Amino acid sequence: MEGAGSVMLSQICRHDVVLIVVMSYLLSVAPSSALAASTVDTSTAVLIRVDPSGQGDFKKIQDAIDAVPSNNSELVFILVKPGTYREKIVVPADKPYITLSGRQASSTTITWDDAGDIFGSPTFAVLASDFVGRYLTIENTHGKMGKAVALRVAGDRVAFYNCRILSYQDTLLDDQGRHYYSNCFVQGAIDFIFGNAASLFQKCHLHSVAEGVGTITAQKRMSPEENTGFTFLACKITGNPTGSVLLGRPWGAYSRVIYALTYMSPAVSPLGWDDWGNSSRQSTVYYAEYKCYGPGAGREKRVAWSRSITRQEAEQFLTTDMIGGRGWLRPAPIHFKKGFSAIAVKANKNN
Ligand SMILES: *[C@@H]1O[C@H](CO)[C@@H](O)[C@H](O)[C@H]1NC(C)=O
Ligand SMILES: *[C@@H]1O[C@H](CO)[C@@H](O)[C@H](O)[C@H]1NC(C)=O
Repeated sequence: MEGAGSVMLSQICRHDVVLIVVMSYLLSVAPSSALAASTVDTSTAVLIRVDPSGQGDFKKIQDAIDAVPSNNSELVFILVKPGTYREKIVVPADKPYITLSGRQASSTTITWDDAGDIFGSPTFAVLASDFVGRYLTIENTHGKMGKAVALRVAGDRVAFYNCRILSYQDTLLDDQGRHYYSNCFVQGAIDFIFGNAASLFQKCHLHSVAEGVGTITAQKRMSPEENTGFTFLACKITGNPTGSVLLGRPWGAYSRVIYALTYMSPAVSPLGWDDWGNSSRQSTVYYAEYKCYGPGAGREKRVAWSRSITRQEAEQFLTTDMIGGRGWLRPAPIHFKKGFSAIAVKANKNN
């Protein structure tokens, strides 16, 4: 993933480098007024340590999440020691403002093996708003037979940085809300990024393990009024050399997916997109490519109902407006404390 950035930067023109730099700036700076409407202090977090050896506050990640008071109004930073956590985890809707952080995705793994329902199978489910995940591997090891979600994201204002999200079918249920994924590696074969969220994926690596024809996205926007869709900005697509992978197919009639300034390896199917057996959707989907490059990016054989868009058309998707503005992306906290403040908990109860 680290290498992807430099390869791309050398292959795209200065104009676009400027765009990416501006984007990175917009995304990395969360103004101090970001959460002014709420009472949350974003510079200070309650620190909870998870360590399987017993030297932290908890041995299991779920126990640490359970320890956060309902309707917490303080930022919580859960620091996870390297290790393999065999857990199926839920961040409930009444526990916002949690950051869950490993030190390196390669050494901090949350793993489970479940299949069937897309809402029942996830190894990790985020139902809370204002969640941040950092330096974690989240995997569903079930394999090829059936829907096996690794990560479901159903809260609003959720961000993942430097994470690895691994499964085969339906890896990332990008369900609802506004989300930002930066420097993440997402692996799967069939519809491996799907759902009806509004999401910006920046500098992410999408890797297909399909042996036949796989599909990266199945975005579910259902009407022109919905402001949802997936944008991939400066990403990289690779795949199993014995298979090929489509960029997307419409789970919803108004499915919207944009790939911009993205490297596409030969694994990307020349047709690019599929209508999932329903040709009436060809006229309602919005499937666009903007200045993608690499052996799989040629548009000669692309389905005629996909589009190559201009800079002007692309711009609306390449700003954080797509995910509701930059206000909610918060920097990592700089001060830590132990324990929840009694005043905050009390104030919460009274409200
Ligand atoms: C948390 O907030 C919700 C919604 O306002 C409320 O229904 C619930 O009772 C609260 N829980 C606690 C423990 O205060
Ligand atoms: C095809 O898609 C349209 C628009 O979403 C829908 O109304 C129709 O029922 C679909 N047809 C089939 C056969 O699924």
